[in-house]
Amino acid sequence: MENELRSQDWFGKEGKDGFIYRSWMKNQGHAPHQFKGKPVIGICNTWSEVTPCNGHFRDLAQSVKNGIYEAGGFPLEFPVMSLGETLIRPTAMLYRNLASMSVEESIRANPFDGIVLLTGCDKTTPSLIMGAASVDLPTIVLPGGPMLAGRFQGKAIGSGTDVWRFADDLKTGKMTPEEFEEAESCMSRSIGHCSTMGTASTMATMAEALGLTLPGLSAIPAADSRKKMNAHMTGMRIVEMVKENLTLSKILTREAFENAIMLNAGVGGSTNFVLHLLAIAGRVGVDLTLDDFDRVGSRMPFLLNVMPSGKYLMEDYFYAGGLQVVINEMKEHLHKNVITVNGKSLIDNSLNAKNWNPDVIASGESPILEEGGIAVIKGNLCENGAVIKPSAASAHLMKHKGRAVVFESIEDYHARIEDPELDIDETCVMVLKNVGPKGYPGMPEVGNMALPKKLLEKGVTDMVRISDARMSGTAYGTVLLHASPESAIGGNLGLVENGDIIEIDIHERYIHWHVSDDEIARRRAAWTPIDLGYNRGHNKLYIEHVTQSHEGCDFDFLIGKSGHKVSRESH
Ligand code: FES
Ligand code: MG
Repeated sequence: MENELRSQDWFGKEGKDGFIYRSWMKNQGHAPHQFKGKPVIGICNTWSEVTPCNGHFRDLAQSVKNGIYEAGGFPLEFPVMSLGETLIRPTAMLYRNLASMSVEESIRANPFDGIVLLTGCDKTTPSLIMGAASVDLPTIVLPGGPMLAGRFQGKAIGSGTDVWRFADDLKTGKMTPEEFEEAESCMSRSIGHCSTMGTASTMATMAEALGLTLPGLSAIPAADSRKKMNAHMTGMRIVEMVKENLTLSKILTREAFENAIMLNAGVGGSTNFVLHLLAIAGRVGVDLTLDDFDRVGSRMPFLLNVMPSGKYLMEDYFYAGGLQVVINEMKEHLHKNVITVNGKSLIDNSLNAKNWNPDVIASGESPILEEGGIAVIKGNLCENGAVIKPSAASAHLMKHKGRAVVFESIEDYHARIEDPELDIDETCVMVLKNVGPKGYPGMPEVGNMALPKKLLEKGVTDMVRISDARMSGTAYGTVLLHASPESAIGGNLGLVENGDIIEIDIHERYIHWHVSDDEIARRRAAWTPIDLGYNRGHNKLYIEHVTQSHEGCDFDFLIGKSGHKVSRESH
């Protein structure tokens, strides 16, 4: 097998080239035998102090290395662009594809035989899987794990989810500024990513559901010692995967994607899941469409009583048994003929899972909701679709007809939402324009526009909202997102005016903007596009090449894969 190893094309060389490939590496103290036919495993590390959710990854990488050494491999850790959700402006999503390029090129250009992806904060999971999928070596994912449950004033508080509520309470005087500040440290009290079923936990679930992690890894808290044990086992397993030539594309089949869609419905995962799964499928050449999310996932039972849709946190979900319990409960729906990184199916890996807390994970027979998942709505406001998470929406607004209150941009929304003169009540439909993939590059998570104070004070907790933006996985409400085509490129959403009537029926997958075709044509003729504002650098590349939401927002030129071969020498 020595000659089959890709890394031997570097480290196994004789003469000048081999000397160069090995000699400089030896300055790090690697023993000569390390270069002689051991599988070289790249540990793709998104550690960064500005990605706090991944701040414990140096430690985790060490555990992975221990496992790799034990199994006879040669670990080499390397950094890639790391995307932290909370600090990056205007939004980490603007750089997901760029990060995936740094992953893809770093893997291909170096002498790796197999890859361990260390993933945590929202975008670090899809960007790493996308990049690795375009190279297609044996690859395993190690999710970094959620934070321990936060507690404040005797109650559990969840990352993100409670921030929106606290901010409303601060606005209406139910919370003092001092309490608000104290809550900051109570919410984020350990290492790890968001403690709710937000986008990071959704992505960890996705990685496990696709078969890319060892069984049961997605919910283990970052601070739990079992995370490091599993990091060690992950390191051992990738060495075996190299020997078996178990490449990513053998695992990422169409059935694996459908399993991920079904399980995302089961756990009530974030709407961001749609964009990331579409982009990953595009890299491996699986022809997944937006309609598949509704067709495959929207009639699946929703089982998880975890924030933002429920009351518990990821830590409780882990104690209850985690994703393996969900897999077990949903096994009659799931595809069986798919393998995971350990060579077995999800179902076989979960046969012994027991539900230790049915209040956290409901059974398949009596789910929290009969129909979870993500609904795809199409109509004259979004011909290519918009998405909504029914489990996070209000029952009384699922069928609704109301008058549009339109904001031309996020700045317009901020400037006018608290204006006492703003003509708005709880029956209105809030419309936000120019926040899609190109209109506000990266399509920030502003789709769940906060309600005006005057309505919050009346006790209004939800309204119908529509935009081409995204929404944080930790947020909730009757919020239609990802409207495609987006307003900034001439989608009908950009033509809505104050007072137009918009009607939705989420259950029937119906949306209608009650404006005549003649009037639409008149408005279209008068429409002028906004200046997208980027004339150089990455962001120029972004607006020129990003695809629409229903296509996953990858760059058009990144779709597909190029394999791992590099034919030319460097010296
Ligand atoms: Fe990093 Fe939520 S901010 S996971
Ligand atoms: Mg988020």
